[in-house]
Formats: sequence, structure tokens, C-alpha cells
Amino acid sequence: MARHLITSALPYINGIKHLGNMVGSMLPADVYSRYLRQRGHDVLYICATDEHGTPAELAAKAQGVPVDEFCAQAHEAQKAIYDGYALAFDYFGRSSSPQNTEITQHFARRLNENGFIEERAIRQVYSPADGRFLPDRYVEGTCPHCGYDKARGDQCENCTRVLDPTDLIDPRSAISGSTDLEVRETKHLFLLQSKLQQEVEAWVAQTSEAAPEWPQLSTSIARKWLTEGLHDRAITRDLDWGVPVPADTWPELAAEGKVFYVWFDAPIEYIGATKEWSDAAGESAGHDWKSWWYEAADVRYTQFMAKDNVPFHTVMFPATELGVREPWKMVDYVKAFNWLTYYGGKFSTSQKRGVFTDQALEILPADYWRYFLIANAPESDDSSFTWEHFTATVNKDLADTLGNFVNRVLSFSRKRFGETVPAGSEAGEAEARLGTEIARLLAEYEEQMEALQFRKAAAALRALWSAGNSYLEEKAPWLEIKTDQDAAALTLRTAMNLIHLYAVVSEPFIPASAAAMRTAFTLPDDTATWITPTQATTLDTVPAGTPFTVPPVLFAKITEEELDSYKERFGGEGA
Ligand code: MF3
Ligand code: ZN
Repeated sequence: MARHLITSALPYINGIKHLGNMVGSMLPADVYSRYLRQRGHDVLYICATDEHGTPAELAAKAQGVPVDEFCAQAHEAQKAIYDGYALAFDYFGRSSSPQNTEITQHFARRLNENGFIEERAIRQVYSPADGRFLPDRYVEGTCPHCGYDKARGDQCENCTRVLDPTDLIDPRSAISGSTDLEVRETKHLFLLQSKLQQEVEAWVAQTSEAAPEWPQLSTSIARKWLTEGLHDRAITRDLDWGVPVPADTWPELAAEGKVFYVWFDAPIEYIGATKEWSDAAGESAGHDWKSWWYEAADVRYTQFMAKDNVPFHTVMFPATELGVREPWKMVDYVKAFNWLTYYGGKFSTSQKRGVFTDQALEILPADYWRYFLIANAPESDDSSFTWEHFTATVNKDLADTLGNFVNRVLSFSRKRFGETVPAGSEAGEAEARLGTEIARLLAEYEEQMEALQFRKAAAALRALWSAGNSYLEEKAPWLEIKTDQDAAALTLRTAMNLIHLYAVVSEPFIPASAAAMRTAFTLPDDTATWITPTQATTLDTVPAGTPFTVPPVLFAKITEEELDSYKERFGGEGA
């Protein structure tokens, strides 16, 4: 059986992420990992904070703390939030780790030996007042095309034209505001991606078409970049914070304090974090990072990301890996997502528009968000978050269809038959029909999960929950009890078996509620992590006589007043 390596795009260290970030990478990766683990696969789910680069430096500066301290704190803050969402990473690492430095430097040396790195002199803006070279986007000035006075050196936000910092009229440093800027010549390392174009093309063609085919979104973005042609690009920067250029290979650049560009070391941190995972556990734990990444033909590697990250994962990082000329594991399947919008507009970190992951957890437990987000994942198109839609989904699917079913069945049975599962009559025709339907829906759910079709998987799960409701309405045990105790007991026992089945199969989506449902039953040896087709058909895993408790209400309905207060606090339509 294949081992599954799963990574989600590394969240940038700078700032708390919003729900759009969550649904496009970490959350679906977690749902998929949980599903595969439950099916008995060997799974390694790795993520980390992406810590290098200018935004981290500037954020640290704004807070008046050294950048390493800023990153250490920000890492812990993000980690706590992801724990709150029950993201079950095997390891959540840091791209500033020594492990990543070691592997990044190794990659650079090998690329150099293989003729894919070249030193080139370029002219760059230098700010004596800041004592540093300024990255393009930190040079501001007036756009020569439209006159906008806050145009950035890489692009004018107003007219969207792509710029060079030297195009700007009255340029100034975005860091200090200093207008005393010079253009200086400086040397950088360039990755000769143009030499790898054909290899990357062949790799994309082969990998994207192997079953299951990559989603259209991943393939179309990869092809577009390849059609435009891979350009050589600078992979070093003049920053204080980053993976240092190794002095053994480039003594001059190392002495000048050059570091690798953040997008060079970030994807390598997928490997670095795996080594952090190994190192953290000590040798005895059997954590062998290299077996997952090097000559790892039995590993199936799936990546999760939002669409803006696709070029880096389908083209640039593969080019790096190919150029290293060592058998490092390359991605097999790239699962990409469109944008989640907030009332049709952009979620924006800088403008604080939309719902942030920490705020969401202050309002409601993680399972509410996990379910809503995955059921509405922006898979084939963008999808929109609105409080109205969120409220309707929670109230209907979670509170009515699932939660109410669980509480109604268990409380009614306890009231009439006491604290163990009642026996009642032998299963009859209605139970046989139900079993067939549950087995069919379970197969559908499994098929969609295997295909990484999250919305469709959520729909199948919802259909499983609904099937229980239909059965209950049809049998109406609250009426049966008046005429035939055994008939009512059979209905309740069957419904309790459905609850146990829901507990098992809902776990990837709503792990906390699933655990509450499962522990309602005191079953000896309840260690099975999945349901066989036979079990789904016969619905008799929980036998008569099994003690149970009634868990607290699983999902509370969101009231009109609460809905209004959320819209008020976060800004609803037109915000
Ligand atoms: N930090 C990047 C972002 O937030 C994603 C990095 S993914 C990796 O868009 F490839 F670098 F790992
Ligand atoms: Zn402009």
C-alpha cells in the first residue's frame, strides 16, 4: 500500500490568516489526511510557517522586536489557532529552521554543480538612509503612466501597469520615506530555469495526466506559465533575514550577507519540516524523514494550495528539484483552489475585510467552520462567504439534519427503554432498504474523497445524514411506541447504529462532534476506523444491550439576533 505524503501551502508568518486562506490549503489537506488515516493508510501531513522575506522583517520592525523573536511568537500564535481548528499535522515546522537551511544550501550547491546557477551583476536601488538595497516593491513614487502617487516599484496599483523602480517619478523608500536613493550594481545568483524548460514540460505533461488527473485549475495555470516560457530568475536577495548563501561555494556573496529569496527556500521547507519532525522525535521514534523524500517511489505526494501558489508548485519548485539531479520526491497531485470571497468581494488581510481564523473560533467551535468551508470549498469556481449562507447551512445541515437526529434518537430511547440500546424486533423490510441506501451513499462518499472532490464528498455525507432522518420520519417510533414496543425499539436501535456510523465517517469533517457521537456508546473494542459495505448494509455494529449516554446538544442553531450581530461586527453586504 502506498504511503501518503501530504503538504499544504506554508502560511506566511506575517499576520493571522482569514477563512479564505484556511479553505484553500490547510483545511482540505487535513480532511483528506484524516480520511486516509482512517482508511488505514500510512499518512504524513506536513506544514510550516513560511518565515523569510521582507514582509516579516518589516512587521518585526513595526513591532519593535528582532525579526527572529517576531517569527517565534507569530509561529506560536498561528500554531495555537490551527490547533483550535483541530488540524492534525504530523508536524508544523518553521522555514527558518536549521534543517531548512541545510537542505536549501544543499540544493543550491547541487544546482550550481549541475550548471543551473549563474552569478550575474544587476543594478538595484540602494537607500543609504535605510542602509540597504530596496526590493522593487519597497520603492514608491509617482506612476509615469497615470500619475498615481503611491505606485510601487513593481507595479502601479491604480493602472495595474508593470513597472521598474527606475520608471517612478520622485522615487522614495517605502520603509523610511527617504528620497535619497541611488542605483548600485550588485551581484546575485540566478537560477537558469530556461535550461530546464523542456524537462519541466515533460514532467508536467506526464504527471498531470496520470490518474487521477490534476484538476483543470492546476493544469491550466502550469501550462500557461510554460507557454510563456521559463525565465532565469534571481534567487538571492540583500536582506538580513533568510537562508544565507553558503560561504563554501560563494564566499564573496556570503561575505556581503546575501540570502536566498523566500520563494527559493519556502517549498524546500516541505522537506525541511519533515526533517524537523524526524529530529524532534529522536531516532527511536521511527521518523525517517529521508525515506519520505529520497528515492521514495512508494510515496504518493499530494499538495494543497490556492491558485496563486500554483506556478511555484507546478513549475518553479519542480524545476529546482529536477535541476538538483538527485532522486527527490516530486509532487504527484496538485489540488488547487479558487478564491473564497466575502460577499462577492475580496477577503483582505491588509484591509481587515472578512473573517479571520482567530475571530471565527471566538464565535463558534471549529466543527461549524470546518463543515461549512469544505461543503462550500471554491473548487470549480470562486465561492462566496455570507453570514446568511453560513447560518442557513449550520442550522439546516448541522443542527437539524445531524445534531437533532442524534439527540432526538438517544433521548427518546433513554426515556422509553433506559440507558442501553434496546433489542426489539428483527430487522425488516424498511431496515433492508435503509441499509442498501446507506451502503450506496457510503460508496459515493468514499469515491468523492478518493477523487479529492470535497464539495461532492460533503454532499454525500449530508445525504447519509438525511437518509437517517427519512428513515426516522417513515418509521415514526414516537407513534410505534403506542402500539408496538418492539417495533419502536428496532427503529431506535437501527437509528443508534446510524449515529455510530455517522461518528466514524464524519470524523474527517467534524472531528470533535464525531468523537462526542462515538463516545456516547460504551462499545467494547470500538477501535474500527471505517465501515465495511456489509456493516453499512446490516447496521448492527452497536448491538442491543450496549450502554449509551446522551451527549450535550451537538450543534446550536444560530439565531436571527446572532446573525444580525455578526453582520454588524464584520460588515455584511457592501462592506
Ligand atoms: N507563503 C506562501 C503564501 O502564503 C505559500 C508558500 S508555499 C511554499 O502564499 F511553497 F512555499 F511552501
Ligand atoms: Zn499607474
